Formats: sequence, structure tokens, C-alpha cells
Amino acid sequence: MTKDPSPALSAAACAGSNIAFVKYWGVRKEPPDAGQPLNPSISMTLREAVTTTRVTFRPGGPPERDALILNERPGPPEALVRVTRVLDEVRRRAGLRAPAEVVSANNFPTSTGVASSASGFAALALAAAAAAGLPCAPQDLVDLAHTGSGSACRSLYGGYVLWDASSGREAGATSVRQIVAEDYWPLVDLVAVVSRRAKKVPSTEGHLLAWSSPFLEARLSQARTAARIVEKAILDRDFETLCRAMEAETLSMHAVMMTSQPALLYWLPETVAVMGKVRSLREQGGIPCAFTIDAGPNVHVIALPEAAPEVRRELEAVPGVEEVLFCTTGGGPRLLEAGGPYE
Ligand code: PMV
Repeated sequence: MTKDPSPALSAAACAGSNIAFVKYWGVRKEPPDAGQPLNPSISMTLREAVTTTRVTFRPGGPPERDALILNERPGPPEALVRVTRVLDEVRRRAGLRAPAEVVSANNFPTSTGVASSASGFAALALAAAAAAGLPCAPQDLVDLAHTGSGSACRSLYGGYVLWDASSGREAGATSVRQIVAEDYWPLVDLVAVVSRRAKKVPSTEGHLLAWSSPFLEARLSQARTAARIVEKAILDRDFETLCRAMEAETLSMHAVMMTSQPALLYWLPETVAVMGKVRSLREQGGIPCAFTIDAGPNVHVIALPEAAPEVRRELEAVPGVEEVLFCTTGGGPRLLEAGGPYE
């Protein structure tokens, strides 16, 4: 007869995705700073786009290796590799050897330009640390979340969040802080979905390709300035300044992408059509809205809440826009007292 295995260690957490106003693009290659960002980034945490994740370590019991269930199906092998990397660090910190079962679900469709890796790895970091009995303050989790995905470390805080890239930190450490909480300045993110195809070149590859662009240095200096301007615009609730800085900043990131070798062109004709529509709504219509675009063709349109219904209607009328998702400013991740995905 086999002995009863030790009790399972289990916890569940949920976290919101985020949209960056100043984007992170490009990572350092050399240790001890390998993987650290080349420029500071600033994002807004999203309330409506959430991942819920349960992590269960079973000392002495099945599974034999880490297992991942994503949206009720076995997760893709490349996602499991990244999940295991985070779990390995949790096991190292906690002195654990047990494999874990990770059950994760997004409440928003994937491949719509809302980053499920940001919310996913923030929720994973919190749930895994809690299950293993490790400290769970956001600062304790930033390196764990970053191990899975860079932008995930910004999802460890609610509201508006700065991920710093300045030197003088402890080598290899990730530095993230909240600028202000979500209720300081509620903004809206309307995502104009023009394609649901998964991107051809994942951001992990793109971050290394950035070095091959002749425009990287110019972009980095522009992004550092943009981070200062955007942080102040958030503190001042100055939407006009935010709009200008955010659009210029996303265009400079895409200039680096387009001039990398090989070149990364994430836009579609419909992407440009939405950008034109946003510009004309703002410049001719006086409607407070501005665009920002991640590593994909879908366009995030940031707006003041009172303008959101009209912006949404206008975006839905642009030919090629399949759907417009609606998100507001959200809080930080939280542990779920009981339950979790599928319970
Ligand atoms: O976190 P990653 O490795 O998926 O990179 C995110 C890159 C951008 O979404 C384009 C920008 C950002 O800062 O979120």
C-alpha cells in the first residue's frame, strides 16, 4: 500500500492585463542584466481583461512534471516552458521539489491584441508564490512575473504603473512601481480588433531583433523622454499631452520594428485606417482619444470615459473592424479565497 502523499499546496489568483502608453521594446543580452528592458515603460492596468490561475504543488503525487491547462485545454508546449521557468524559481525560493498543476483561464478572447501573457504571468506569479508559502507583495513577485513575460511585471499593480530601466539598480533586478491607483484617473481602452491571427514573430524574438535597427538609439532616447512626459501627464490628468506623447511613442517603437533585420511589420491596411480615424476624431472632431499599438495589428484607442460611446460607434463603422473591446482602468491582482478556474 502506498503512503498518502503530503497535502497539496494550492492557491488561486487573478490579475488584469495592461496596455502600455510608453512601450517596452528591446532587452539587454548580456548577464547579469540579460532580459532587462532597454527603456522605461508605463502602462494602465485593465479591469475587464483578467486571467484567473490556480497552482497546485503536489509533493509525492501526480503530475510527474508540471502540467498546464489553458482555457480548458492542454496549454501549448512553448507556454508550458515559460510556466515551468517561473515555477522553477518558486521551487528554488521555497525549497520545494514538487511538480505543479497550473489551471488558467482568460475572461477575454486571445489574439485580439489584449496581452494575455501580462495578466497570465502576473496571476501565475501570485498564485504560485502563495501556494508555496512565499511572500506575496508585488515587489516580491516582479522578478517571478518578469521571468514569464516582461510586461507581466507591470500587471502586479493596479492603476498606472512604471517599469523602470535606469541603471544603478541591483544587477538583474526588476524595478516596478505604481504611479497612481486606478481611481485617480479613470480612462478607457477601446480595442479595435482588425485581425485575430496570432502574431508571426512573438515579442520575445522581437526584443532581441530591436538591436538590429539603425533607429534603436534614437528611439531609446525618445522613450526615456516620453516616460517622463507621460508620468507627469498622468499625475496632472493632462489628456492632451498624454495623447501626443503616446502616439509619437508607439510610432517610434514601430519604426524600430519595421527597420529591424528581418523587418517586423505588424500593421494591416485596417490598422492604418483606424489610426487615421482616431486622428480625425481628435483633430477635426475635438473628441479626446488617441491610439497605441502593441506587437500586432489591433489598435488600442485610449479615451476619456465620456467620449467612449461615440469613439466606439465611430470605430465600429471603420471597414475591417471586426469588434471593439471595452476596458477601463483596473486594480492590482488578488488572491482568491476559495475556488479558481473551473470551480
Ligand atoms: O511582455 P512582452 O515580452 O510580451 O512584450 C511586450 C511588448 C509590447 O506589448 C509591444 C510593449 C509593452 O510594453 O507592453
